[in-house]
Amino acid sequence: MKKTIPFSILLSGLMLTMFFSCKKTTTPAPADPCLNTTITISNSVVTTVPCESTPSGSITITASGSTGFTYNKNGGVYQSSNTFTGLAAGVYTMGVKDVNGCTKTQVVSVGNATAGPNFTNVKSIVSSKCGNCHLNGGNDGSVNLDADCSIVSKWDRINVRCVSQGNMPPQGLNATQKAQITAWVNAGHKFSD
Ligand code: HEC
Repeated sequence: MKKTIPFSILLSGLMLTMFFSCKKTTTPAPADPCLNTTITISNSVVTTVPCESTPSGSITITASGSTGFTYNKNGGVYQSSNTFTGLAAGVYTMGVKDVNGCTKTQVVSVGNATAGPNFTNVKSIVSSKCGNCHLNGGNDGSVNLDADCSIVSKWDRINVRCVSQGNMPPQGLNATQKAQITAWVNAGHKFSD
């Protein structure tokens, strides 16, 4: 004999199935991989030398507290080297990222190198011996030496006229002053030398 299952039972069975299969399952949010990571940054800075055509400042970042670090500057592309060179004086936001993508930033300032002892000697010779011919707006021979960078850029002509030829200033310099100019030239004739 053929058994028939009443339609109402079938329907309630179907509804039950639907009820259970529609039960909302909550997927737990993935744990934050950076929650227990504390990255610490330190830095070392090399100042840039004023008056040079290429900035020479640099920042080296050292990070600890995790592994697989890469480094960036001002939100730029992350790189494997922790040293950034060719930096002008200014403020930079340095960033590190670890193996899990956890990041940390630090604001770092690059300053200007101070005047070196040899340059300081030459500047004081210029101040005392080159007078209004080349200072205070003076421009004899199209040379004005008011700005530190003008002294730096004219290093070779200062050397020729004051030391090799010895006819600048017109009354000449003494041996000590000439030796000081020579020392600056030999040291590299930069602002920082
Ligand atoms: C009394 C004025 C006077 C004084 C002081 C003087 N100069 Fe001059 N200088 C001149 C004149 C004028 C010229 C242009 C004629 C020439 O080149 O000889 C000149 C030209 C120069 C030039 C450009 C010419 C070149 O060969 O490139 C340099 C560099 C220079 N002087 C350096 C100096 C320095 C450095 C001092 C100081 C240590 C100095 N002078 C002191 C008058 C002066």
